[in-house]
Amino acid sequence: MNQDIVNRAHQLLKARKPDWSLEQPFYVDSDFFDMEMELFFTRQWLFAAMTCEIPATGDWIRVDIARESVIVLRKKDGQIAAYHNTCRHRGSRICLAERGRSNRLVCPYHQWSYELDGQLSRTRLMGEAFEKDGFGLVPVAVGVVGGYIFLNLSQKPPSFEPFRTAVESYLLPHDLDNAKVVHTQALVEKANWKLVIENNRECYHCAGSHPELMHIITEFDDPNDPKVSPDYKALLEKKGLDWDALGLPHVHTEGHLQYRAVRLPFTGGMLSMTMDGHPGCTKLLGNLTSPDLGSVRLLHLPNTWNHVLADHAVTFRVFPLNAEETLVTTKWLVHKDAVEDVDYHIPRLIEVWSKTNDQDRQLAENNHLGIRGRAYRSGPYSDVIEGGTRDFVRWYADELLSALEPLANHYSNAKDHAA
Ligand code: FES
Ligand code: FE
Repeated sequence: MNQDIVNRAHQLLKARKPDWSLEQPFYVDSDFFDMEMELFFTRQWLFAAMTCEIPATGDWIRVDIARESVIVLRKKDGQIAAYHNTCRHRGSRICLAERGRSNRLVCPYHQWSYELDGQLSRTRLMGEAFEKDGFGLVPVAVGVVGGYIFLNLSQKPPSFEPFRTAVESYLLPHDLDNAKVVHTQALVEKANWKLVIENNRECYHCAGSHPELMHIITEFDDPNDPKVSPDYKALLEKKGLDWDALGLPHVHTEGHLQYRAVRLPFTGGMLSMTMDGHPGCTKLLGNLTSPDLGSVRLLHLPNTWNHVLADHAVTFRVFPLNAEETLVTTKWLVHKDAVEDVDYHIPRLIEVWSKTNDQDRQLAENNHLGIRGRAYRSGPYSDVIEGGTRDFVRWYADELLSALEPLANHYSNAKDHAA
């Protein structure tokens, strides 16, 4: 770990004005980025993929997270497992394609073969004395909730359970285990990953930038926000009663800056996130019977936000590529038995979020370009409408600071001893 970077980041975070944007190096400096990946990002639970993307035994998907590559697969017992995509022979990547289906994983370099449970099962020409035990793939921690697969790359991940138990009941009625991904949009945004999330966590920019989205949602998405209009409050109450009758959870989960789930209605009588507000898929998810369920907004920092509707779901996944580039992957899901051009039409299904994503990409890229310049200074988040962004940066700064603190103290003690 670069000692100077640790000390500098530690000092900047300690001196940070609360609820102001971060100092420039956190957004643009590649050494800060490496430190952040090591101490923060790869220690978090990260949204990786959907269970329905690997429905059968042996299905696998490759998930690249900055420098790391992970194989996520369905084992013979139906459970999902994940392994570092690094061969135990001499370290080659094993899975080179984005996805596949295999009875065992075979390294392309010298054909070492691994079972789906990660054990090394076959090697060629390694000699009589070679023992395969102890050469299994290195596992990665997996958390699954409501069709979502999360990974944690650290050796000692924090428990996944609080998040799982808080949000599972919102997701289960939509049965995303039995959905299918019908469209994927992968955008490489020329912006630091935190600017992508900061932009997502506020709707200050929505009125000026998102004509399509603002047909459907409001600027204020926290039902407890005093700025929620009386009309929207009345709508929340009415829909809340409807959803209570259907046994669908809708109230905002409590008390965490890192994650939340809430079910919110659309405005203007809209049923779905389509241009005309009609369902994007006529076959509803799971066994749902009402198309009028608003959307479950699922957030898990640092890398995903989601809309789970009655007729379809849209998942968003953010992976940093380097300090100044971020991969934003959006997937649209419908019921696995829905038929294209009968139940849904892809251009219609994806129109609102395709346009919105591109608008957000431009905003984040412009933000990044401005921050790179010498005039950039940290600026204040609005108490009125940027609470989500403020909370994200507050959470990020606290998490990173708590990882930096012991290292900075260690370096400082070592310096005292040397002196
Ligand atoms: Fe994989 Fe040699 S590096 S078999
Ligand atoms: Fe936006």
